[in-house]
Amino acid sequence: MESLQIGDLHIKLPIIQGGMGVAISLSGLASAVANEGGVGVISSVAIGMLELDYAKNFRMANQSSLRREIRKAKSLTDGVLGVNLMIAITDYEDMLRIALEEKIDIVFIGAGLLLKKPSTIPDSLLESSKTKFVPKVSSAKAARIIFQHWANKYNHVPDAVVVEGPLAGGHLGFKKDDLENQKFNLSNLISETVSEMVPFEQRFGIEIPVIAAGGIYNGEDMYKIMQLGAKAVKIGTRFVTTYECDASMEYKESYIKCRKEDITIIDSPVGLPGRVIINDFVKKIQNGYTKPVKCPWKCLKTCNYKEVQYCIAEALFNSARGKMSEGFSFAGTNAYLATKIQTVKETIDDLILEYTSTKYKFGCIKETSES
Ligand SMILES: Cc1cc2nc3c(=O)[nH]c(=O)nc-3n(C[C@H](O)[C@H](O)[C@H](O)COP(=O)(O)O)c2cc1C
Ligand code: SF4
Repeated sequence: MESLQIGDLHIKLPIIQGGMGVAISLSGLASAVANEGGVGVISSVAIGMLELDYAKNFRMANQSSLRREIRKAKSLTDGVLGVNLMIAITDYEDMLRIALEEKIDIVFIGAGLLLKKPSTIPDSLLESSKTKFVPKVSSAKAARIIFQHWANKYNHVPDAVVVEGPLAGGHLGFKKDDLENQKFNLSNLISETVSEMVPFEQRFGIEIPVIAAGGIYNGEDMYKIMQLGAKAVKIGTRFVTTYECDASMEYKESYIKCRKEDITIIDSPVGLPGRVIINDFVKKIQNGYTKPVKCPWKCLKTCNYKEVQYCIAEALFNSARGKMSEGFSFAGTNAYLATKIQTVKETIDDLILEYTSTKYKFGCIKETSES
């Protein structure tokens, strides 16, 4: 398995753990993945809910929680760490500033097009920072728009790009009707994005790694998508069923117990489809149940808190803490494949073994057909 290079940042394994909110990937999971040679990612969305008094000052709670989780992760590993940020979050620039101040290695930025330079962050911090900027997109066109805009406006481009296909867990960047359209399958999205990056690589004389996400569960999936030009994979679902994952045991067990047909799409109150595991709470909201919303702070730009059926930040935090009757698990299409909880080391060892045996199998087939 080849290592991953993002600019001057060397990463031993081409495996990035997907940032998972609310409070699913914190310092525990991120440091464990980084210790094994991958990139461990802390999810910043509504991270302030970890503070007991978050409702009093959600904005400050988010900042102090993120800073603490980054510092804790750094105290547990010398490996590569990232933070997941969402442009759709009201305090996105606060979260980005904290990540840069704490000298995080990489920021993964999704849920919106990364077009604007953050206006509240001092130029001196941006210019002195070695943090890599990696947007997450759901189409080659979105990648082109971002890279073109940066090239024209700032005369440089982001350091890499994550392309997330329709099989991922969590909120999805597709219309519900497009989720099963083969035009949007991950293989097509990766091939198209790899081609879109070529002119930017030539113009700036750099390599722009394309990273594949969504539905990658084992080493065979990894090998196949990397044959199409992806330089690494970003995996969320498979890391949930690890001891080090920061979610409750109840959350992890919902993965172990679920069957393929238990994984479904909901219309999230934030206006996007979301992939979840069906439970009683999901059934209730699908039947029109409304849970009164005490919006502690308008955390999401796209959430109309006066009209939503329930508060999704609260529902996700409840399940992360094990209160499954008041929330649900986000999960990718392959969550049903989990049969046991493992350590991160065992998970990564399995991925390497599966990848290597697929590579060997395909190598043998190629050699046989050539001889
Ligand atoms: C439980 C869960 C929570 C997630 N939360 C977020 C999130 O808060 N922000 C985000 O940008 N992506 C989120 N994702 C997406 C992951 O970062 C990653 O891109 C995705 O899991 C990859 O697909 P996979 O789950 O099939 O491996 C989440 C995914 C899962 C499974
Ligand atoms: S109601 Fe919407 S904006 Fe308010 S906290 Fe919940 S998710 Fe955030």
